[in-house]
Amino acid sequence: MRTQVAVIGAGPAGLLLSFLLHEAGIDCVVLEARDREYVRQRVRAGVCEQPTVELLTSLGLGERLAAEGMPHEGLSLRFDRADHRIALTELTGKTITVYGQQEIVKDLIDAHEARGYPISFEVSDVSLSDVDTERPRVGYRDAEGVARTIECDAVAGCDGFHGICRPSIPDSALTVYEREYPFAWLGVLARTPPSHHELIYAHHERGFALHSMRTPEITRLYLQVDPAESLEAWSDDRIWAELTARLEVEGEGEFTLREGPILDKGITPMRSFVAEPLRHGRLFLAGDAAHIVPPTGAKGMNLAIADVRVLSRALEALLRGDESLASAYSDTCLRRVWRAEHFSWFMTTMLHTDPHADGFARQLQLSQLRYTTSSRAAATSLAENYVGLPFV
Ligand code: APR
Ligand code: PHB
Repeated sequence: MRTQVAVIGAGPAGLLLSFLLHEAGIDCVVLEARDREYVRQRVRAGVCEQPTVELLTSLGLGERLAAEGMPHEGLSLRFDRADHRIALTELTGKTITVYGQQEIVKDLIDAHEARGYPISFEVSDVSLSDVDTERPRVGYRDAEGVARTIECDAVAGCDGFHGICRPSIPDSALTVYEREYPFAWLGVLARTPPSHHELIYAHHERGFALHSMRTPEITRLYLQVDPAESLEAWSDDRIWAELTARLEVEGEGEFTLREGPILDKGITPMRSFVAEPLRHGRLFLAGDAAHIVPPTGAKGMNLAIADVRVLSRALEALLRGDESLASAYSDTCLRRVWRAEHFSWFMTTMLHTDPHADGFARQLQLSQLRYTTSSRAAATSLAENYVGLPFV
């Protein structure tokens, strides 16, 4: 088979890239290891920066997002058993929208199917060759197990952190920057209305907790846990008791956590990771395949979307014979990536309880929280990073 761009992975990065390329008249094929239902249902993060919402809307993909997304003008940092609101919109003029990543994935799959843009689900044994030539090849088995080869002009590695594209690049051609944290997040989706109209990021001596939401009837909650913790150790009762303890407030502004049936739970490790450069010959990495941020800054999906916006233009130019944007692709994206890496690390270290931290480190954390919520300049810095800096 022959196509112009082979896109590996049908997460937000791969699907949006494929959509943008098709709309620009470029032929491409998406190959995805999982089945269609799994990809549509997988529960992930849910905060869209304003530039993400604007991009999806400008592409005609924003109808359900506008109807069902929940715009927010602020968030709470909860510590010292009290709420400290960051007025995102008052400080930046922008909003964020809570809309689950899998809803964006569903909208993108539906848009592909409505237009006849091809996605092959349940492929296996994907392998890349000749990516350092002008005719890369992608080998794979289709859902029926039939061996196939795609010959193309470029490969987009959008296959997430555990994909095969990044490992296809020789180690000597990549520089990896990495940090692991001594905690993970236990995430739960519960059938109960949100307990507060905004997100709450809670710093507590028992560990971090986050109150988020998906719809007026569905709440999304997270607890900091040990990375070695098993899900079996966390009964629903234990989860609710721990969330209640960590989200407690005292005095004014009473808060009651609303409980309900837990629909989904999972543990995700937290890491920061960047592999540079994002290009090797005709292979371009985008999204989680190239970089990971801990979820505390809500940046993962927004970064994936920002990457492919730049990549689609670079590939359009490359296929017209203009190398300049493709040559700049990695550096252009990395400026944003490193800003998000810093912000995500900052939010993570400010809000979590490090089991190895000494008293000095804990006092610095509290001081940073108090400064961030009492200085307009510090709050604005958090807010402008959180709502999304303009596209570079
Ligand atoms: N072949 C084909 N597909 C693969 C392979 C492979 N060898 N390996 C992985 N995949 C698929 C995965 O099943 C997944 O659907 O690639 C897709 C990668 O999607 P994501 O992990 O969602 O990554 P990305 O599109 O970069 O989006 C980043 O996802 O993990 C979250 O927090 C992260 O919000 C961020 C977003
Ligand atoms: C979510 O709603 O899933 C969510 C919100 C904010 C974050 C991370 C995840 O920082």
